Amino acid sequence: MSSVIQSRPWDVHRLPSAEGRVFLVTGGNAGIGYFVAEQLATTGAVVVLGSRDRAKAGAAMASIRSRVPGAQVRHLPLDLADLASLKSAVDRLDVDRLDAVVHNAGVALDDPPRRETQDGHELMFGTNHLGHFALTQWLAPLLSAAPAARVVTVGSFAARSERLDLGDLESTRDYRPKRAYGRSKLAQMSFGFALDRRLRAADSTVLSVVAHPGGALDSLTPSRPPVCVTTPGRRLSSLPAALLVQGKEAGAWPVVRAVLDARVRGGQLWGPRVFGLRGMPRREPVPAHMADPVTAAGLWAASCAAAGAEPHLGFR
Ligand SMILES: NC(=O)c1ccc[n+]([C@@H]2O[C@H](COP(=O)([O-])OP(=O)(O)OC[C@H]3O[C@@H](n4cnc5c(N)ncnc54)[C@H](OP(=O)(O)O)[C@@H]3O)[C@@H](O)[C@H]2O)c1
Repeated sequence: MSSVIQSRPWDVHRLPSAEGRVFLVTGGNAGIGYFVAEQLATTGAVVVLGSRDRAKAGAAMASIRSRVPGAQVRHLPLDLADLASLKSAVDRLDVDRLDAVVHNAGVALDDPPRRETQDGHELMFGTNHLGHFALTQWLAPLLSAAPAARVVTVGSFAARSERLDLGDLESTRDYRPKRAYGRSKLAQMSFGFALDRRLRAADSTVLSVVAHPGGALDSLTPSRPPVCVTTPGRRLSSLPAALLVQGKEAGAWPVVRAVLDARVRGGQLWGPRVFGLRGMPRREPVPAHMADPVTAAGLWAASCAAAGAEPHLGFR
């Protein structure tokens, strides 16, 4: 990348070329993940949509191809709630290196009852955190084979006010869905920062970066039929919300910057400029509780046990 491009301010509508690189976006078939994939496809990279639903992935790929001439998009069947399936999913990726994985897919429940994955883990912790934790282990050889790969974890402002309970990571007691969601996102962000510390200690070329979309509403999102459709009426009625939050296309911007910007470093947190809720991507200070090494170590050990992963996650 030339120094001219390096010194230019980041422009979300004018992304640098990433031709020859391969990116995997979990949950790339819908929501923010779709827009991350669409934006990354404009760089000339190969973009793989990790999605459990073949039809939705097909619709997302057709939409991207119709908007991005020459887009190179593929589908990888991927169900993060099924930990035992992840190794064979990665085996089917059929690439010799991976330049970035975006840990974007997520589930957020608003109401009880507490639900579990088929492996018996609380659904949000199991999918959002454990699924991505286990996936990282299987992707480690491919990430290490790239010259400077990135693991980009999508966090949330919901994690700011939460604290992890190492004695009850899976919310078996006093289950409250919003709190369990916030804790699952905090677990992901804690993992993202801890992973970077471990990668640095292992002298790895791989970086781990955390990004979050701010507040991103479907009703403020541009239509991409049939992937997402926003009627003019719905858009109009949600315009007051646009003072505070944004749509999912804009929610993708900090994530895409965390993947592509050569100035981004491991261990950083990126989010939207305006109150961390909307706007152009900028670097944010990392809240102390997200990078606390003692909590991170407890979470790491518990995650290895739950996911049957090696402590080094394949990065040596
Ligand atoms: N929207 C916001 O305001 C906001 C704010 C902060 C953080 N976030 C984070 O941003 C990310 C994307 O959110 P979003 O609003 O775009 O959500 P969304 O529209 O609900 O999309 C979620 C994506 O995750 C996929 N997914 C769910 N469970 C999965 C599983 N078991 N295996 C594979 N994929 C699975 C979904 O696939 P299916 O289509 O198959 O269900 C879908 O592609 C999440 O990590 C979320 O926590 C969002």
